[in-house]
Amino acid sequence: MSQTVRGVISRAKNQPVELVDIVIPDPGPGEVVVDITACGVCHTDLTYRDGGINDDYPFLLGHEAAGTVESVGAGVTSVAPGDFVILNWRAVCGQCRACKRGRPHLCFDTFNAEQPMTLTDGTALSPALGIGAFADKTLVHAGQCTKVDENADPAVVGLLGCGVMAGIGAAINTGAVTRDDTVAVIGCGGVGDAAVAGAKLVGAKKIIAVDTDNTKLDWARDFGATHTINATELDVVETIQDLTGGFGADVVIDAVGRPETWKQAFYARDLAGTVVLVGVPTPDMRLDMPLVDFFSHGGSLKSSWYGDCLPERDFPTLVDLYRQGRLPLEKFVTERIGLGDVEAAFAKMHSGEVLRSVVIL
Ligand SMILES: NC(=O)c1ccc[n+]([C@@H]2O[C@H](COP(=O)([O-])OP(=O)(O)OC[C@H]3O[C@@H](n4cnc5c(N)ncnc54)[C@H](O)[C@@H]3O)[C@@H](O)[C@H]2O)c1
Ligand SMILES: [Zn+2]
Ligand SMILES: [Zn+2]
Repeated sequence: MSQTVRGVISRAKNQPVELVDIVIPDPGPGEVVVDITACGVCHTDLTYRDGGINDDYPFLLGHEAAGTVESVGAGVTSVAPGDFVILNWRAVCGQCRACKRGRPHLCFDTFNAEQPMTLTDGTALSPALGIGAFADKTLVHAGQCTKVDENADPAVVGLLGCGVMAGIGAAINTGAVTRDDTVAVIGCGGVGDAAVAGAKLVGAKKIIAVDTDNTKLDWARDFGATHTINATELDVVETIQDLTGGFGADVVIDAVGRPETWKQAFYARDLAGTVVLVGVPTPDMRLDMPLVDFFSHGGSLKSSWYGDCLPERDFPTLVDLYRQGRLPLEKFVTERIGLGDVEAAFAKMHSGEVLRSVVIL
């Protein structure tokens, strides 16, 4: 027996999203149906809508979510109906070459539900990042559900399901920021501000926030930035160097994901420092740089998928830090909206009015 619920889909490139009926199958082996409580609007949803990820339309959007397990399929023991969970998009397999070498955060074969969710005419949907949570309910693999403290606000902790985890993890896991480090973060949306908050949490001594929008820079200060740079007014590389004794920052995080911001990150980094790319480039973007600069600068160039997180390890810990008042996750929620307001939320994201709009179901 399947069930029909509401979901927000993207049918064609650059077209407004639509709220339609979608069909959720009963969970098969290893699968779980989750009753979604809250789902944040991430820039990646907009990138899906605009064709920047792939062309597998129609997409069922939404992937930063928390909810309650409704039903589980055969063989599922890790969660049970009634459990409060955050959904994740990297359910590690335990079997691939990365997992077997003890590096599960690099898993090359992460799990998703096998059965498709569909439109009422049977057309299969592509769930964003294998989740699809701008919907009353969604079907995922059991490994995509991480149980956390049920007293936490779903709208707040659901954001750990993507952007906030990606940002915190880009700083703490990928960039390995530690006490006494200097850190610069380029792009202070939800992901960049989470990187700022992560750098503060682990004791970075200087945190330089860069954005093109002064409101975003004010918010970044609120998350712990010690210095801010408006990239439309100042030279980003020179200013970061000036603020770091002429050397550049130990860790520079590009949370925009464009060739020009990545180059700024590269040249604003101390020689043996680390560049972390967490913003997602589109397939058409190219880098053109003197190869000798890579050679002469040394250091480390990294990309960060999902903040190199392990949901089972990181989600419960970060929820606890939030509940203890040590990580201000509630500040990421700018507004709470309905399922019909996703397109308007994209417009607000574009004009820089929000850090996160969160759909409440
Ligand atoms: N790697 C991952 O696992 C992962 C996870 C989630 C999101 N992302 C990606 O991270 C990026 C940021 O996502 P978000 O949700 O924070 O987006 P957002 O739109 O909320 O934030 C982007 C910010 O960058 C700023 N910006 C734009 N151009 C700039 C420039 N040239 N210089 C400085 N600042 C600039 C904007 O003003 C805005 O504040 C996106 O590319 C998104 O797809 C990656
Ligand atoms: Zn694996
Ligand atoms: Zn996301």
